Amino acid sequence: MSVDVYSEKASCERLLSVHRWTDKLLTFRTTRPAGYRFTAGQFARLGLEVDGEIVSRAYSITSAESGEELEYYAIIVPGGKFTTRLDAMQPGDPVWVEKLSYGFMTADRFTDGSQLWMLATGTGLGPYLSILQQKDVWEKFQDLVVVHCVRNREELAYADKFDALRAQAQANGLPARLHYLQSVTRESGDDAVLSGRITTLLRDGGLERATGLAIDAAHSRFMACGNPEMVTEVREILRERGMTPLRRTGGGQFVTEDYW
Ligand SMILES: Cc1cc2nc3c(=O)[nH]c(=O)nc-3n(C[C@H](O)[C@H](O)[C@H](O)COP(=O)(O)OP(=O)(O)OC[C@H]3O[C@@H](n4cnc5c(N)ncnc54)[C@H](O)[C@@H]3O)c2cc1C
Ligand SMILES: NC(=O)c1ccc[n+]([C@@H]2O[C@H](COP(=O)([O-])OP(=O)(O)OC[C@H]3O[C@@H](n4cnc5c(N)ncnc54)[C@H](OP(=O)(O)O)[C@@H]3O)[C@@H](O)[C@H]2O)c1
Repeated sequence: MSVDVYSEKASCERLLSVHRWTDKLLTFRTTRPAGYRFTAGQFARLGLEVDGEIVSRAYSITSAESGEELEYYAIIVPGGKFTTRLDAMQPGDPVWVEKLSYGFMTADRFTDGSQLWMLATGTGLGPYLSILQQKDVWEKFQDLVVVHCVRNREELAYADKFDALRAQAQANGLPARLHYLQSVTRESGDDAVLSGRITTLLRDGGLERATGLAIDAAHSRFMACGNPEMVTEVREILRERGMTPLRRTGGGQFVTEDYW
């Protein structure tokens, strides 16, 4: 798409900072368009100029709804059009941000349940970082469970952030318990880090053992985000347990988002 056409629906913002977790995982921040609104869990569509054309891609927002800036967590995909450009960018460079926010994976859509399970592979962790910065979710659920599954330990980004969120919630007298589980699939686990795919741990009871929580349709609500094959398998497992997707008209226990 040409820059002229894209500029009708997007705002030209600036890259503010880049934090590198590994050679291919990074957190970046942009300025926030004036009047930009989103609900925690939603994604922005970002545009970068590559060879005179705009390449646009979806990025979950990791920052709080009230944040002055917008933050995102990204992987550099080998040969990827958008991320090859992103990888080379410097603070001050332009980033287009579409004026609308998108997506339905938001916690406010759950009307009941006492446990919110937030399952992520890789960069699928992003939306949960935003969701956990909203006070409402800590009031609505008794147990908040984040499960982050990656290939290798070095990809367990944001681990310290969960301790900070827990401490902040306690300091503010918010009642929910935050369980943060990490799992790796291409090296062995230990006492602190589980070993195995989310789908395996969901099927064999590993997630329930690690949290001391029982999963059932009455109490458990789920979000799953990241690798589309993981998302599909999680949906199948939850259906086998009597759960259904969240419906606009009410009812349902899970909502998911595929990243590709
Ligand atoms: C709703 C939604 C939200 C998204 N949010 C994020 C986000 O917060 N962070 C993020 O890094 N990406 C996110 N993505 C993916 C992102 O939009 C792009 O696909 C990604 O940046 C690659 O773009 P590209 O042009 O460099 O590569 P492309 O040429 O588009 O390459 C696509 C291929 O790269 C792989 N791939 C793409 N994204 C990922 C990923 N996140 N993790 C692992 N492999 C991947 C897949 O094999 C895919 O087929 C999201 C996608 C969707 C649909
Ligand atoms: N060239 C390719 O064909 C190809 C394919 C995939 C990814 N990639 C690239 O490699 C990079 C890796 O990205 P990433 O590691 O963040 O993402 P990822 O490949 O989705 O892996 C993240 C985690 O998801 C797990 N997972 C994968 N499929 C699953 C499934 N069906 N059910 C449950 N869990 C599943 C992985 O386990 P496992 O370790 O068991 O897989 C891993 O722990 C990206 O840049 C991507 O573009 C390339």
